[in-house]
Amino acid sequence: MDKPIIRAAVEADAEGIAGVLKALVAAGKRHKPSDALFALSHYISDPERIRCSIALAPDGEVLGFQSLKLATENNPYEVAVGWGIIGTHIKPTAARHGVARALFESTLAAAQQKGLPAIDATIGANNPEGLGYYEAMGFREYRRMEGAVCKVFRVSED
Ligand SMILES: CC(C)(COP(=O)(O)OP(=O)(O)OC[C@H]1O[C@@H](n2cnc3c(N)ncnc32)[C@H](O)[C@@H]1OP(=O)(O)O)[C@@H](O)C(=O)NCCC(=O)NCCS
Repeated sequence: MDKPIIRAAVEADAEGIAGVLKALVAAGKRHKPSDALFALSHYISDPERIRCSIALAPDGEVLGFQSLKLATENNPYEVAVGWGIIGTHIKPTAARHGVARALFESTLAAAQQKGLPAIDATIGANNPEGLGYYEAMGFREYRRMEGAVCKVFRVSED
């Protein structure tokens, strides 16, 4: 597989992002909404968005995306205010080809530009691919919640 093209998502990418989410639902790896309106409100245009990066194949197919948001008061994951919150979604047909690794370069650059001290990844405890991926990117476990493992990536030493 060629190296994916990485760029910031725009509103016109909502259907492409929904396609990634639908493919994960079909594979039994996702149980949350997967429509274009959700993609738009939750990732592309979310007010807490720092950067939503997408990975494209040469033919324009959206292979996956990575969301970086700012943790504010009352965020659903109870992440420390001011940290980043990351989420990664790759089409099962594109998995294990370095797509998520390439996306993290873009996300990390955004986190550094924003001056974030740290990024939280909250991963299902029964999701070995998610746990393995974030560990490989340098995230380390710092707490557990019910059914989930929280890993942190320290962007800067505070
Ligand atoms: C987890 C996920 C994001 C990984 O994306 P990916 O593009 O396949 O990952 P990459 O190919 O860039 O892998 C980078 C590294 O992560 C680790 N990794 C990736 N998939 C893995 C797996 N299934 N098992 C163990 N480690 C894995 C490896 O160290 C890998 O490096 P290597 O291939 O050189 O060994 C993807 O499988 C996915 O979207 N899963 C469903 C949604 C999800 O679980 N999201 C994360 C939790 S919220």
